[in-house]
Amino acid sequence: MAGRSLLCGACRALCGGCHELYDGHKSKRVDAIIVNMSNASRVVLPQIAQERFNRLEARTARIGVIGLGYVGLPLSLLFSEAGFTVTGFDIDSGKVADLEAGRSYIFRIPGKEIESARQRGFTATADFAHLSEQDAIILCVPTPLTEHREPDLSFVENTSKSVAPWVREGQLVVLESTTYPGTTEGVMIPALEAGNGPGLKVQGKGVPAERGVFYVAYSPEREDPGNVTVARRDIPKIVGGHEGIATELAAVLYEGIFAQSVRVSSTRVAEMTKLLENIYRCVNIALVNELKLLSLRMGVDIWEVIDAAATKPFGFQPFYPGPGLGGHCIPIDPYYLSWKAREYDFNTRFIELAGEVNESMPAHVVQYVGKGLNQNKKAVNGARILMLGMAYKKDIDDLRESPSLTVIELLREQGAEVLYNDPYFPTVGRGRHYNLNMTSTPLTDLEQYDCVLIMTDHSNYDYRTIVSESQLVVDSRNATKGIRSAKILRC
Ligand SMILES: NC(=O)c1ccc[n+]([C@@H]2O[C@H](COP(=O)([O-])OP(=O)(O)OC[C@H]3O[C@@H](n4cnc5c(N)ncnc54)[C@H](O)[C@@H]3O)[C@@H](O)[C@H]2O)c1
Repeated sequence: MAGRSLLCGACRALCGGCHELYDGHKSKRVDAIIVNMSNASRVVLPQIAQERFNRLEARTARIGVIGLGYVGLPLSLLFSEAGFTVTGFDIDSGKVADLEAGRSYIFRIPGKEIESARQRGFTATADFAHLSEQDAIILCVPTPLTEHREPDLSFVENTSKSVAPWVREGQLVVLESTTYPGTTEGVMIPALEAGNGPGLKVQGKGVPAERGVFYVAYSPEREDPGNVTVARRDIPKIVGGHEGIATELAAVLYEGIFAQSVRVSSTRVAEMTKLLENIYRCVNIALVNELKLLSLRMGVDIWEVIDAAATKPFGFQPFYPGPGLGGHCIPIDPYYLSWKAREYDFNTRFIELAGEVNESMPAHVVQYVGKGLNQNKKAVNGARILMLGMAYKKDIDDLRESPSLTVIELLREQGAEVLYNDPYFPTVGRGRHYNLNMTSTPLTDLEQYDCVLIMTDHSNYDYRTIVSESQLVVDSRNATKGIRSAKILRC
């Protein structure tokens, strides 16, 4: 390790360029990666930053999390568990009221976790004036697409404007929402500076100011809902500051709850890293979806092929086909980059092609429902179809962008009567792109349906019983793997 600095947690802030870090809380070395730290010179913290740094490291800091959804609420609870005093902010008064009453509105977060956090001082509020009391402010607000599939940054913009009047000297403001490279610098920072009463400025890339500045960083959320293979704490956290001081503050902030932070050289690199991760998934899912279509024609079981290929110990990572993409990330985030790329006269062809393949999957499922009914001498028009699963993937209570919503629409267009069952959704009302007003149908008397369509492979379904009681099962997830029956049509 000659030529590298080995620093303890306490003096880590003095070195922006070391290639090895210590976990300040356990005093043991962890393998941290410093990626492309072009400004690998020493980062000396001015007094206003050093005070925040010390409080963040000692976990006596106050943390404000804005946007208490699927990302912001679990994040708030992690900080609270680690001993920080956390205040959650949301414009949704229903969520604030639930949390203040110790109730959870996310299935996988039990109410008792909210109650425990409240006993440790966690509060929720819609009053942004409390932001001025925080050492660090983290924005976890939505970044959807417009009707024309363009980035809708209104939540980031509006939240930044709401935060601006309450920003105080030395505070750290971090954006976690997924977005295109340049958003933190081009959208958030200008809004924070313009609306800031005392006239504070973001610390620039030059000489550190002793007064009159605050700090800005970007750190993407990498959670994979429903994935229990990696503890949240063990997912390394990417941090990229607008300059070196912000990077150090963000790193020490997240090292309070994550085993490892990965410093990158800028907010843009951090923003692009998140998009690369999601585009990688989107493109690989499209690849297996396309190969599934071919395999169906060739009479080859694509899932068996993927499992066999996955035994290769290097060079292959399995992705699985399905009825289409869902959630707030994979179907949306790649288009943030393809939109931005046009500014550079650049076409992101992989993203467009992947989108085309993945978006055709719901229609493919509907085609197979028709095929299955046809085998039973029936038509889609007039058929009673029970769809299993409204969530976009198994064992979660999130239906944003779920392909189930598209499939319902397509089947209804062809005259089918569609009912659904989903243990995570007793009812489905109205969302950004749907207005269903449906209630989950009990899983009984399955023989009454012309077709049972598996859209989500929830773990608590008994697939053997479902197959044995149904007339026809169309399976878009290989949930019936290992069950042999002429009633099953896998697609
Ligand atoms: N859900 C995931 O698994 C996941 C994973 C990685 C990244 N992300 C990204 O994280 C971001 C947040 O996603 P999410 O799933 O938590 O969204 P969400 O819709 O579940 O939660 C967002 C919350 O922000 C609140 N909000 C909106 N505008 C606000 C404002 N002006 N002030 C205060 N609160 C406001 C909403 O009321 C809502 O409670 C998105 O950019 C998303 O792409 C999500």
